[in-house]
Amino acid sequence: MSVEDVFNPCAATARRTLLLGAGAMGIAVLAGCGGDEPAPGAGGQPGGSSAPAAPTSARGNPFDDTGSGGSDEPKVPSNALVAVGEVPVGGGVIVKDAVLVIQPAKGTFKAYDAMCPHEGEIVDPPFDGNPIIQCPRHNSKFKVADGSRVAGPALRGLKGIRVEVRGGYVVRP
Ligand code: FES
Repeated sequence: MSVEDVFNPCAATARRTLLLGAGAMGIAVLAGCGGDEPAPGAGGQPGGSSAPAAPTSARGNPFDDTGSGGSDEPKVPSNALVAVGEVPVGGGVIVKDAVLVIQPAKGTFKAYDAMCPHEGEIVDPPFDGNPIIQCPRHNSKFKVADGSRVAGPALRGLKGIRVEVRGGYVVRP
């Protein structure tokens, strides 16, 4: 047992909780071990307030997309599908509106409608450089390179979606 375990029971509890997994009980235990800030109290009680805290960040409200925050952080384009860094090289991810975004080579992105043309199942993203996209339902296979059908009951390939990279995001132009 380390010195930290003796003087910081919350740290020890958190460690045990992590070892047991991230179940709802573990989250509840962790929530009870806050930092050095006072616990929020009910309205009218000493040291507490029922009013939500005002943003303390020098950058303003992180959910404010009006451009009034004066932040120099890049804005997420409204047509963004996914951040470039979230698409593995040699693999892909399914993003909103059932779009499969693939990065077959570093910096090269492709996108397809992820709905299988056979019966509409969402296809599995490729991984580890596999050149094939597979449908988990009846095993239709499609080429990463162009979405064309390779095998299986699907009669056609995946529908291509035009994408480009802008500001660190894969976007629909
Ligand atoms: S739904 Fe994809 S192969 Fe049948």
